[in-house]
Amino acid sequence: MCGIVGYTGPQSAVTPLIEGLRRLEYRGYDSAGIALGTSDKLFVEKKAGKLSNLESALGSVPAVHSGIGHTRWATHGGPTDRNAHPHLDNEGKLAVIHNGIIENYSELKAELEKHGHKFQSETDTESVAHLLSDLRKEHNGNLTIAMREAVKRLRGSFTLLAVHADQPDLIVGVRRNSPLVVGLGDGENFMASDVAAFIEYTKRAVELGQDEVVTITPTSISITDLEGNALKPREYQITWDAEAAQKGGYPHFMLKEIFEQPKAVADTLLGRMIDGRISLDELNLSDAELKSLQKIVVLACGTAYHAGLVAKYAIEKWAHIPVEVELASEFRYRDPIVDKNTLVIAISQSGETMDTLMALRHAKEFGARVLAVCNTNSSTIPRESDAVIYTHAGPEIAVASTKALLTQIVATFLIGLHLAEVRGSLNSSQVSEIYNEMLELPSKLEQILETVEPLRELTRKFTEKNTVLFLGRHVGFPVALEGALKLKELAYIHAEGFAGGELKHGPIALIEEGTPVIAIVPNTHEHGLDEKMLSNIQEVRARGAKVIAIASEGIEIPGAAHIIRIPNSPQMLQPVLATVPLQVFAYEMACARGTDVDQPRNLAKSVTVE
Ligand code: F6R
Repeated sequence: MCGIVGYTGPQSAVTPLIEGLRRLEYRGYDSAGIALGTSDKLFVEKKAGKLSNLESALGSVPAVHSGIGHTRWATHGGPTDRNAHPHLDNEGKLAVIHNGIIENYSELKAELEKHGHKFQSETDTESVAHLLSDLRKEHNGNLTIAMREAVKRLRGSFTLLAVHADQPDLIVGVRRNSPLVVGLGDGENFMASDVAAFIEYTKRAVELGQDEVVTITPTSISITDLEGNALKPREYQITWDAEAAQKGGYPHFMLKEIFEQPKAVADTLLGRMIDGRISLDELNLSDAELKSLQKIVVLACGTAYHAGLVAKYAIEKWAHIPVEVELASEFRYRDPIVDKNTLVIAISQSGETMDTLMALRHAKEFGARVLAVCNTNSSTIPRESDAVIYTHAGPEIAVASTKALLTQIVATFLIGLHLAEVRGSLNSSQVSEIYNEMLELPSKLEQILETVEPLRELTRKFTEKNTVLFLGRHVGFPVALEGALKLKELAYIHAEGFAGGELKHGPIALIEEGTPVIAIVPNTHEHGLDEKMLSNIQEVRARGAKVIAIASEGIEIPGAAHIIRIPNSPQMLQPVLATVPLQVFAYEMACARGTDVDQPRNLAKSVTVE
């Protein structure tokens, strides 16, 4: 939510700022703005709407060498020019950009107004600009000290960057519960919400902890805590390349990311079996600790939650440990029954989702060990966890998650297999057999992607529909939920996912003549799962539904109007394959309906507010 970028160095700052904002636009696109560090007064331009509006509004821009830029996902104050960041002090010399929420902004505003400050916007952020302005004066023009003192007065979550016209080459930043990374260049330095913003210029990054204040100039970086104690920069190398953050010839990031799934899954599996055993050294838990685990709790939101639902089936079956899957946004309000014998698995692509972060902190208070499954290096969730398994999906830029989901499922499968191995619930040949099946997933995904053309055509038949229902059983149920979520967020169509068995308990009333129902047909006869889904298909068809079945080769589906074939796999692995046609379906539907595929309305990629 909100993307932030700062640049100081020899380049004309507008170029890295606008490029950086383009790469961060996935974080919010309600407005965009920049402030450039010209001495005397700052040059500021900001516009409601997408970055392109700002670009069109930028006339001749002063060729100055530092500045800050912001792309907004609105929280306090509507998406207008006035509420767009940067926000200024009354002299127009100090500019602030912000990601997060300042919870005590009304108190601050009342106090600052009493001291004569005039507010221009309805945002929470503007109070920080005025506060910093006063504190800077109190501290002899030292913006770093002013930032430290300002932060002591703020409640909430925030990343803040500030510049002042009197020292235009110097940018000060701070973070609390929202992301900020520094990029170390050669004679130039960057700050941003995400490395994608500066990946083109440098691969050297510095991570920042909670309440750390960082000051950059073209040739220096200094980090302190809120008391002013110097901290050593923790540098790391960025492994993603600049190309990975480009569309690479695809019309949308989402389509590119759908097609990257075979590689993403292969990369996540790479090197995970050594000498016939699952290798997960990063787990950081001894075999004795793994054996003493009594419960696993998965915490996640949205698509990552669906990965957790799939994981439950696999881990319970393979490792015989009870698994609860919780919406992170709800978990934190409960008094959960977790303790030191509980392993919490926090799943997050971005590693910054506030609800997941707060839920994992809540679990830690009860003594639980936390393992993150995350795609973003050095992000907050892995940093606050006891251990992390990184998925290797590469940067996911489209707001709708695709390749992250598949790699999250695969990573949790690896955890399940490792637990099963250590706890003796599967023997090594059973583990190897499942692992070898997983190794075949990338080529099966390739096969699906090579044959999506008919699905594209089929989708066009349904573009006028206002409701689409998804049915699944067992691991097909989370797939149904995911199919519905993708369609809602991309094509703005009312879509619901149901467990097949629940149909008769209410949802069947939604079926009318021509309602599209997408049914994920199980790959197994165990518990009569396949037959039960075939009965569901008959039931909805008898009431007028048009059934599209997603099924493995060879399974007959009487009553289905269309069948999308996927390669055979063991039932537990089917979600990795069955999800892909649903992603393509939602993508095609969005294209046909003319919605914004990569940046659906009202959404943002990284949800860093609660
Ligand atoms: C849906 C989607 C979201 C995210 C959710 C969690 O396509 O992308 O539902 O899955 O916001 O995000 P992360 O995984 O970054 O914690």
